[in-house]
Amino acid sequence: MIEEFDNLIDNSSDCIIVELSKRGCVLKDQKTLMTYLLNLDEYEKIVEQRNNHILKKVIKNKGLNILDCTGGFARDSAIISSLGNTVTLIENNPVIMRVLKDAISRINSTAMKNIFNNITTKFGDCIDFIRTTNRKYDYIYFDFMFNINKSALPSKKEQFLRKIVHNNINRNQNIINEVLRRVGCKVIIKEHAKSNDYKHLDIINTYKEKIVKYHLLEGKNENY
Ligand SMILES: C[S@@+](CC[C@H](N)C(=O)[O-])C[C@H]1O[C@@H](n2cnc3c(N)ncnc32)[C@H](O)[C@@H]1O
Repeated sequence: MIEEFDNLIDNSSDCIIVELSKRGCVLKDQKTLMTYLLNLDEYEKIVEQRNNHILKKVIKNKGLNILDCTGGFARDSAIISSLGNTVTLIENNPVIMRVLKDAISRINSTAMKNIFNNITTKFGDCIDFIRTTNRKYDYIYFDFMFNINKSALPSKKEQFLRKIVHNNINRNQNIINEVLRRVGCKVIIKEHAKSNDYKHLDIINTYKEKIVKYHLLEGKNENY
């Protein structure tokens, strides 16, 4: 049931609207008339390179249960799943979730279908999910929107994400603090290479790339 998100989407207030077309669920910027159709088959090129992806160094084993708390358009979940893990993806924005669910239903490639068969999507706030789930995870993953512009020439996907998702660094930090108290597993936080929003935390290791970095931390709950 993808349509369950339709009544949560308010197409009247924002300049970004969701249009249902024959091609699928299209995002449209009413000001610029730019449109975007998420095509998950395009991730095939990215997951083909999975063995060179830095997440393979961060998450060393396979067969793990991983909670992606900031699902977005599921690029990172797809990489984590392609590395042989089971992913639960949480997303709290109804527009993003609507577009993602629609895109999942339109996947053509067998490889991508297999990757998404190991990703369960859940709509809601990640902290509510963590407070109520009985399930234990091996890693909990965060990729909040960056406060710094990632690139001067962002892709259409990136431009739409920035317009739809509103970031609140204090709220994100509160979520991370609470998660670190509640769980006893590893926690990964992705942030822009030039920002330092999490430097006050006990970071075990930071895996750096040119544009982004991944911090590895550990939850403090010994009874997890
Ligand atoms: C930068 S995007 C993530 C991109 C994603 N990693 C990918 O590879 O496509 C951040 C996403 O997290 C979602 N988000 C932010 N705070 C959240 C929360 N507290 N619970 C669930 N989702 C959240 C936003 O709506 C947004 O879609």
